[in-house]
Amino acid sequence: MMNLETNIAKKAAAYAAADLIQDHMLIGIGTGTTVYHFINRLAERCHEGLHIKAVASSRKTELLALERNIPITDINRVVALDLTVDGADEIDPQKRMIKGGGGALLREKILASMSREMFVIIDNHKQVEHLGAFPLPIEITPFASSATIYKLTQLGFDGKLRVAADEEHFFVTDNGNYIYDITFTKPLLHPEAVFDAILPIPGIVEIGFFFNLASQVFVGYEDGSVQILS
Ligand code: 5RP
Repeated sequence: MMNLETNIAKKAAAYAAADLIQDHMLIGIGTGTTVYHFINRLAERCHEGLHIKAVASSRKTELLALERNIPITDINRVVALDLTVDGADEIDPQKRMIKGGGGALLREKILASMSREMFVIIDNHKQVEHLGAFPLPIEITPFASSATIYKLTQLGFDGKLRVAADEEHFFVTDNGNYIYDITFTKPLLHPEAVFDAILPIPGIVEIGFFFNLASQVFVGYEDGSVQILS
């Protein structure tokens, strides 16, 4: 359960980013509790006359945006975006991130990679010196998931398959895949090496490391202030 202060920090970061959205932008919208505030503020701005179009990184985001009358465009009708705005689970001083806590990492990474810029909206607790305290989400195919997980463990990457909210089934992404959350016992001094080790395993669809994607980071604090890191 998120505490009130953290929610104030998330909202402050999300509102600061939403206030920078310009007319006629094509925007990618991420997923999560911080993005929830971004959608609310963006909807207010659209209601006040801002003209934008958006694509969503998850079914959840799409439904919320449509509910708030934000114009959503079919992702298959666009090839590039002006900006993506999304949260993160961890971000280090080099703006390397772990994402996928909400299970939308594949679509989030696709949107970020299509975008000229990525605004990352976080509360200050997401800032870390080294990545790795937050489990690394890996999206894997249900087909041969045991073999994929076996290969990961052979490489020394232990974790567990994410379970759905009903606690009876495995969590299934919007793409019909599973999420395997890798836990690390030590901070990751070289996350790129972990990425390179995991990537060749067939069955792995996407890895929750986001490198070289964040452009501006909006850090919200519990007093409602926001620091923007460029
Ligand atoms: C979803 C994500 C989210 O951006 C990340 O989990 C942060 O979420 P929140 O804003 O709820 O803390 O990567 O897949």
